[in-house]
Amino acid sequence: MAFASGEWFEQEQLWREFYPVMFPESRFRHAAAQVDQILALAAFAGRDVLDLCCGPGRHAIQFARKGLRVTGVDRTPFLIEEARRRAGEAGVTVEFVEQDMREFTRPASFDLAVSLYSSLGYFDDPGGDAVVLGQLYRNLRPGGVLVIDGVGKEPVAKTFQPTMSTTVDGVLYVLRNEIADDWTRVRNEWVRIEDGRAVTYRFSQMIYSGRELKSLLIEAGFGDVKLYGDLSGAPYGAQAQRLVAVARKH
Ligand SMILES: C[S@@+](CC[C@H](N)C(=O)[O-])C[C@H]1O[C@@H](n2cnc3c(N)ncnc32)[C@H](O)[C@@H]1O
Repeated sequence: MAFASGEWFEQEQLWREFYPVMFPESRFRHAAAQVDQILALAAFAGRDVLDLCCGPGRHAIQFARKGLRVTGVDRTPFLIEEARRRAGEAGVTVEFVEQDMREFTRPASFDLAVSLYSSLGYFDDPGGDAVVLGQLYRNLRPGGVLVIDGVGKEPVAKTFQPTMSTTVDGVLYVLRNEIADDWTRVRNEWVRIEDGRAVTYRFSQMIYSGRELKSLLIEAGFGDVKLYGDLSGAPYGAQAQRLVAVARKH
């Protein structure tokens, strides 16, 4: 299957240049506790784990530390290299595959699949996420569980900030966001400013309400779909920080 190229997430430079803000060491440390929470939410009882859009391997490495057999899939070569380096340093074995999330097909091979830290909604084609969920469904074994941790429309509506900035190692990062297409997408402009030189990246991400994500999961074939406000299992209510979905393949 071939997909249109030239989409924003194919810019390896974006992932390189924003690595310090997206993946600070504190986020790596946080991943161990998140993996415990995911295994509890999923009531996990299996062996094979798929970390789709694994990035630099934050969670894949922690799953492997628990003795699980882990496959991490990501299309960005720089991040896959970083994940391999970190797995080596941690002394764990993880299979890392460089591939588009829409194309990774390994039917009935996993007991748990995860899509973490806002890794859906990237495609220009509004049907792209349904393709990804269809692949995830196919790749799970019967009884297997999918855990998604994403940006929810309801928490965004409550906490929306049009501009954020941070400085890391003397580099200024300015993140500007706007709600676009009648609350279908968040349109982002990320600017990296170093020594007075600014580089701007523009991209957009689809955001789902709880109900919308649930419907997509059900359409992909999943059952027992439950929503939470974070990975600890807090309710998807007024205080929700994230949109976490847990769904089972029967
Ligand atoms: C926000 S990061 C999340 C990384 C990781 N899940 C974590 O929690 O650290 C999103 C990831 O999706 C990957 N990605 C973006 N588009 C992709 C695609 N079409 N297929 C596979 N991976 C993709 C990026 O390379 C990046 O690693």
